[in-house]
Amino acid sequence: MSGFAVFSGNANKELAGQVVKELGVKLGRLKTEKFPDNETYVRIEEDVEGKNVFIIQPTCNPANENLVELFLIADAAKRAKARKIIAVIPYFGYARQDRIVREGEPISAQLFAGLLRKAGVNEVVAMDLHSSAVEKFIRPETHLHALPKIQSYLERKQAKKHLHALPVIADYLKKKGLKNLVVVSPDLGALKNATEQARVLNADIAVIHKKRISGSRVIAEKIEGDIRGKNCVIIDDIISTAGTMSQAIGILKKLGAKNVFVAATHGVLAGKAIARLNKAPVKEVIVTNTIPQKEHRKKLKKLKVLSVAPLLASAISKMA
Ligand code: R5P
Repeated sequence: MSGFAVFSGNANKELAGQVVKELGVKLGRLKTEKFPDNETYVRIEEDVEGKNVFIIQPTCNPANENLVELFLIADAAKRAKARKIIAVIPYFGYARQDRIVREGEPISAQLFAGLLRKAGVNEVVAMDLHSSAVEKFIRPETHLHALPKIQSYLERKQAKKHLHALPVIADYLKKKGLKNLVVVSPDLGALKNATEQARVLNADIAVIHKKRISGSRVIAEKIEGDIRGKNCVIIDDIISTAGTMSQAIGILKKLGAKNVFVAATHGVLAGKAIARLNKAPVKEVIVTNTIPQKEHRKKLKKLKVLSVAPLLASAISKMA
């Protein structure tokens, strides 16, 4: 390695391995272990002075552990006189608390964005951030989207860094050659991305009106758009407890959809998600590997995992 080094915390070593393979470099040497009292210890075991240091670490479950590890690696790189520290956070956890809904709550997305800067992070490469509020908090140099429009923008510019996984998902869906395709937005919040995906896939669009009852319970109230007898793909940024997706699948099937697919960038798959998706009349659950999917894949046979490693590697190579 010369002018840059790529390190990985423990959050998603498989993805980090794929990224460095794409880049044709080796992962930087980093020791991570636990102190006897379970505090985290890290040590960068090579010279990073004057280099651009990339740290690949989605802040997925266990989010608290992964965040602390990321802060410590960044601090270590800063003290080792790295030129610039770039946190590559394919999944930015704690993003859904991006505003105060009930008095007395924190804004976790803003807090952790601030702590990243305090730890020495100069730039962030992010992918499909939950909301524009989160984007403002972390001001990512790179917010990766898998949308071709933004991809080509990335090609033209020196990597703006909010990446989107939608082109990756679009390519996969195109190869399926599904006829009479409708892209379905599971709520109004996901409509912008779903509309862009429908444009790329040359498909129709439909939108579900969703009401959230609690963190894990939602109700799909009604749908706008023609889905009867059609192949439907529901697109969202996150599948967490799959409450949103299972309600959406249910209403689509009830109203006569032919086949239903679901796709999301981040397969959090927490709580009852796997059980719900196993039970749901859905053909395929498509996610990317921003979060490790090995264990999920064992329990959910209809899970298809697409890799975002080439997108991340391309962004890194432009910033290196
Ligand atoms: C909501 O704003 C998000 O885009 C997702 O729809 C939501 O986080 C999914 O959560 P769950 O899978 O628990 O319904």
